[in-house]
Amino acid sequence: MARALLFNAAALCAGAYTARAALFQDPSHLSPNKAYDYIIVGGGAAGSVLANRLTEVPNSQVLLVEAGSSDFEDLTIQVPNFAGRLGGTKFDWNFTTTPQPGFNGRSIAFERGHVLGGSTAINFMTFTRGSRDDWDRWANVTGDKGWSWESIFPYAKKLEHFVPPQDGRNISDEVDISVHGLNGPVHASVPAFHVSTDGRVLNATQELADEFPFNRDMNSGDPIGIGWTPCTIAGGVRQSSALSYLAPILNTRSNLDVVVNTHATKILQTGTSGGLPEFKGVQLSQPGAKKTLTLHANKELILSAGSVKTPQLLMLSGIGDSSELSKLNIKTVVDLPDVGKNLQDHPFLTNPFSVNSTNTLDILNNATISAQQLSIWQQQNHTGLLALPAGSQIGWLRLPENSSVFEESGVGADPSAGPTSAHWETILFDGFIGFSGAPPSDGNFFTAFTVMTSPTSRGNITLNTTDPFAAPIINPGYLTTPFDILTIREGIKAIRRFTSAPAWEGWITGEFGAFAEAQTDEEIEEYARTNAQTIDHVSGTVRMGKSGSAKQGGSGALDSDLKVKGAVGLRVVDASIFPFIPAAHTQVPTYIVAERAADLIKADAAAEANKHKKHHY
Ligand SMILES: Cc1cc2nc3c(=O)[nH]c(=O)nc-3n(C[C@H](O)[C@H](O)[C@H](O)COP(=O)(O)OP(=O)(O)OC[C@H]3O[C@@H](n4cnc5c(N)ncnc54)[C@H](O)[C@@H]3O)c2cc1C
Ligand SMILES: *[C@@H]1O[C@H](CO)[C@@H](O)[C@H](O)[C@H]1NC(C)=O
Ligand SMILES: *[C@@H]1O[C@H](CO)[C@@H](O)[C@H](O)[C@H]1NC(C)=O
Ligand SMILES: *[C@@H]1O[C@H](CO)[C@@H](O)[C@H](O)[C@H]1NC(C)=O
Ligand SMILES: *[C@@H]1O[C@H](CO)[C@@H](O)[C@H](O)[C@H]1NC(C)=O
Ligand SMILES: *[C@@H]1O[C@H](CO)[C@@H](O)[C@H](O)[C@H]1NC(C)=O
Ligand SMILES: *[C@@H]1O[C@H](CO)[C@@H](O)[C@H](O)[C@H]1NC(C)=O
Ligand SMILES: *[C@@H]1O[C@H](CO)[C@@H](O)[C@H](O)[C@H]1NC(C)=O
Ligand SMILES: *[C@@H]1O[C@H](CO)[C@@H](O)[C@H](O)[C@H]1NC(C)=O
Ligand SMILES: *[C@@H]1O[C@H](CO)[C@@H](O)[C@H](O)[C@H]1NC(C)=O
Ligand SMILES: *[C@@H]1O[C@H](CO)[C@@H](O)[C@H](O)[C@H]1NC(C)=O
Repeated sequence: MARALLFNAAALCAGAYTARAALFQDPSHLSPNKAYDYIIVGGGAAGSVLANRLTEVPNSQVLLVEAGSSDFEDLTIQVPNFAGRLGGTKFDWNFTTTPQPGFNGRSIAFERGHVLGGSTAINFMTFTRGSRDDWDRWANVTGDKGWSWESIFPYAKKLEHFVPPQDGRNISDEVDISVHGLNGPVHASVPAFHVSTDGRVLNATQELADEFPFNRDMNSGDPIGIGWTPCTIAGGVRQSSALSYLAPILNTRSNLDVVVNTHATKILQTGTSGGLPEFKGVQLSQPGAKKTLTLHANKELILSAGSVKTPQLLMLSGIGDSSELSKLNIKTVVDLPDVGKNLQDHPFLTNPFSVNSTNTLDILNNATISAQQLSIWQQQNHTGLLALPAGSQIGWLRLPENSSVFEESGVGADPSAGPTSAHWETILFDGFIGFSGAPPSDGNFFTAFTVMTSPTSRGNITLNTTDPFAAPIINPGYLTTPFDILTIREGIKAIRRFTSAPAWEGWITGEFGAFAEAQTDEEIEEYARTNAQTIDHVSGTVRMGKSGSAKQGGSGALDSDLKVKGAVGLRVVDASIFPFIPAAHTQVPTYIVAERAADLIKADAAAEANKHKKHHY
């Protein structure tokens, strides 16, 4: 683990100024007088990208502030198969939603990463860009062509380093290498080796090609169909944003400081510029600590604390919907009705089938076998069953054009971004995955997920207290529109058609558990409301819009260059900026946003420097 050793060497230097980037474990170790050009709040997907790209400019001094620890090389984070075990640990913020009417009143766990790497250190590692129409819709609603598929495609390549799978097989039928990046920081691949369901899935895509076509590469801009799962697993190890963007530079860049175990607790106004409040100050502290530290950024303060904490931090600092802020006696400095609104997420559930096999990934439930596999992973170059992602194929699927759902739900026009965007997604797993009820004690299974990827439901984040360490109120509003529940219902029915293909004959022996009981439309809807969870893609809570006025709700809290409207010196760069959630897993879209944002920030700094030069001469 050469990288781990280098990282720890950087840690040893904390407190002293050296030629290396410094990693500080406590804010009291920071020098209050050090001048930073940029202060980035949150070291997750977006914050790690910015810390790396902004320190490419040699004389630009950057501080990255992360609330969680620097333990992103912990064994539980690195082993891909342990992904499901990280919720409720020190790597999770342990948020909970309000009771969800669309989930029959259930509150559910709402995981978010709390460690350098953020949610990329605890996620399920699926690596998808979204569709051409998802991005073109962003360009449309912001009036900024820079967000179109064509414009972001170079960033999608720039961030990626595709590597061959561990077994070295010929993947020309699994990947269109021409659409991938080969030199970026984020290492990604397809499943390490084949599993027992792969041949059946592929055969079923041929047998039912009209409804479930095979798609050779879902990262081409046109994801519709079923294809091989792209994932941030390389050489059998999870590739978090911290491993990808931070680990390689902590040893070499003297212009980056990283402080962990440290929360930004408030954004501070530092002056007025052109009649607008300037926010370049930030207050830092630790839970339970009496002391706070105040720092100022010379150029910009950037919030990358994610879709839950970024809107909370803005509201606590007087930037938000004045009618909401006044409820907690917070003085409004910038009235931005869209802060905390427009929450979008992907609800999902799993549909398990019993199978006639003794050789599925369920064998990992056997303690002897799982211990053997862990020792193989540890001693044989990160190989074995633990190196696999949770599902070797993914399908991106649309309701048929004549589906009754469009009329029955009353949506009128199709709410998806366009014909390349899926209404729903399935993930196909060679074993049992379930989230409610007792898991089976033995047996072998196949699981097909149904994920609602084009939601019309909207939720929100509101303040509960003025304590920055307390959670805000998280109300995702899952399945609160007819379109969403009817679409998830149709997705479940479609799974039944897919698993009726001849390819599954003699292998799938029946449906399992509550899924088997849910047969009529009413029963399926009830089954969805009783069992759905979140696939953890919360987005949109500080959405960007067309540049200009923000007084009207719906016009966006940010200009299309991600600057906070009505303020100076403050940008938001994370998944909260999405105007619409893409029909995709959200880490790659977040990486793309941050890669483009880094270029926008650099361009502004260059233009500013140029202006000063001109004034000077
Ligand atoms: C369990 C789970 C599974 C997922 N599965 C997938 C998947 O398979 N594929 C996929 O593409 N996406 C997946 N996602 C979603 C994806 O990881 C996120 O969309 C992405 O990481 C969002 O990036 P971000 O920068 O907005 O926030 P994050 O990556 O969450 O980073 C925010 C960071 O800010 C820090 N922070 C918050 N508040 C403060 C503060 N006040 N001061 C300092 N630091 C602060 C946090 O600790 C965190 O490190 C999953 C997410 C989860 C939680
Ligand atoms: C989440 O809960 C676990 C278990 O109680 C705890 O160890 C961890 O510290 C909590 N996370 C945070 C960020 O408080
Ligand atoms: C974007 O707007 C153009 C022009 O109005 C329209 O033709 C196109 O379909 C829109 N695309 C999306 C994805 O919304
Ligand atoms: C991989 O397979 C493809 C098609 O099956 C073939 O054209 C190609 O030559 C193979 N590549 C190698 C390196 O064997
Ligand atoms: C897939 O179909 C081919 C051709 O019919 C057949 O030879 C093969 O055995 C099938 N694979 C599986 C796993 O059923
Ligand atoms: C270990 O795996 C890596 C990445 O898959 C590979 O490049 C390397 O050759 C392997 N090492 C050994 C000793 O097999
Ligand atoms: C677990 O697997 C081991 C090794 O294959 C086997 O000997 C044992 O019987 C299994 N245990 C159970 C409970 O199935
Ligand atoms: C939609 O079209 C398909 C194929 O043309 C047909 O089989 C199906 O019955 C139609 N569905 C509805 C709801 O009209
Ligand atoms: C948040 O959403 C809930 C449920 O839809 C709604 O009752 C509430 O008014 C919303 N709050 C704000 C501030 O929009
Ligand atoms: C809001 O704060 C109160 C008082 O601290 C607490 O009891 C309650 O659980 C909090 N609500 C949420 C949704 O966090
Ligand atoms: C299970 O598979 C075997 C062959 O692998 C077959 O003989 C048997 O009939 C199958 N059982 C069922 C219930 O389909």
